[in-house]
Amino acid sequence: MKQLESLQIGNKTIRIPIFQGGMGVGVSLSNLAGAVAAAGGVGTLSGVYMGYREPDFYTDPMTANLRAMDEQIKRARQLADGGILAINLMVAMNHYDDMVKQAVASGIDMIVSGAGLPLNLPKLVTDPDVLLVPIVSSARAAGLICRSWFRSSGRLPDLVVVEGPLAGGHLGFSPEELKEGVAATLTDIVSAVKDSLKEWEEKAGRPIPIIAAGGIYDRRDVSQVLEAGADGVQLGTRFVATKECDADPAFKQAYIKAEPDDVRIIQSPVGMPGRAIRNDFVKASETGRIPVTRCTRCLAPCDPKTTPYCISEALMRSVKGEVDQGLIFCGANAWRIEQIVTVQEIFAELTEKK
Ligand SMILES: Cc1cc2nc3c(=O)[nH]c(=O)nc-3n(C[C@H](O)[C@H](O)[C@H](O)COP(=O)(O)O)c2cc1C
Repeated sequence: MKQLESLQIGNKTIRIPIFQGGMGVGVSLSNLAGAVAAAGGVGTLSGVYMGYREPDFYTDPMTANLRAMDEQIKRARQLADGGILAINLMVAMNHYDDMVKQAVASGIDMIVSGAGLPLNLPKLVTDPDVLLVPIVSSARAAGLICRSWFRSSGRLPDLVVVEGPLAGGHLGFSPEELKEGVAATLTDIVSAVKDSLKEWEEKAGRPIPIIAAGGIYDRRDVSQVLEAGADGVQLGTRFVATKECDADPAFKQAYIKAEPDDVRIIQSPVGMPGRAIRNDFVKASETGRIPVTRCTRCLAPCDPKTTPYCISEALMRSVKGEVDQGLIFCGANAWRIEQIVTVQEIFAELTEKK
C-alpha cells in the first residue's frame, strides 16, 4: 500500500499530510486542531461562529467572534507542539474579509476556504508565508480559482483540498447527483484536478499538492487516493469521534448510535445540499418551516424571514449537546464509528506500514 510522505511547502514542513477538516459550529476548535497539529498533521479550527459561547455573542457577534478566534488560535498554538495550524473560513459568511485578517494577525499558518469560490483570498492575505488553500469539488473550480488568483495577484494555491461526494457538512454537488449516487467519485475528481493543475504548476515552478477529502476512513482508503494522485488526506468524521474533539459528548455519541439509514442528504437553508444524521430536528424540518427567533446575520445569502430554519442556531444546539433539537452534520461513513478513540490512535492506524 502507498504511504503518506511529508510535504515541504514554502518554509513549512507538514510531517504527516493528514489534515483534520474544519468543522463548524464549534466541532473543531483549539483542542482538536491543537492535538492533530501536535501529532504531525494539520489541525484546522472552524472559523464559523467561534464566539458562540461568549456572553456578548447576541449583542455584538462580530466582536465576540473575532475575540474568540484570537483566543482559540493562541490556545491551539500552545497545544500544537510546533505543528501546523489552519483555519477554515467559508466564503458565504458575512465579514469574511475581517475574519481572514484576524486569523493572519493571530498567527495562523494556513487559510482553507470553500463553500463558494475564494477568489479574493490572495488580495486579503499578502504574507506569502500564510498558506492559501481552496476547497474544490471539480477540476473546473480548481482551474477557475487558479486563473483568477494568477491574474489578480500572481499567486497560486499552496495546496488544494479536493472534496468528494462522501464528505460531511455542505457539499459541492447537486442533490440529485448525491441522492442517485451519480456524482463523480473522489478518486476520479482527484485525477481530473491533478491534470488541470499541471499548467499552473508550470507557471508556479513548484508542485501544487492535492489533499483528498470525503469518505476516507481506513488505511486502504488512504492508499487508494494516493494511487489516484493525491499527496495527502483530509478527514472530518473520524476526528469527531475522538477524545479531543471540541463537541459535546452527546454529539459524538450520536455518531456511535447512527445506523446506515440515519445518514442522509438534506437541503440546507444556505441553498446547498449537506449530509447529516436524520434526527428529530431533521424530521421536523421536513414537515414545515422552523421560525427564526434570533438572527446575527451570519450568512450573506440567508433571509431570516423565509429561511426554512436557522442553520447556525441548529448547529450551535447540537454541538452544545442538544442533539435532538439541532443539526448534526456527518460524513457518509459516520455509521461505521463504533467508539471514541484518540487523535494519536487515528494517526497510528492511517500511517501503519503495510
Ligand atoms: C460535523 C461536520 C462539520 C463540518 N463543517 C464544515 C465547515 O464548517 N466548513 C467546511 O469547509 N467543511 C466542513 N465539513 C467538512 C469537513 O471539513 C471535511 O472536509 C469532510 O467532512 C471530510 O469528509 P469525512 O467527514 O468523510 O472525513 C464538516 C464536516 C463535518 C462532519
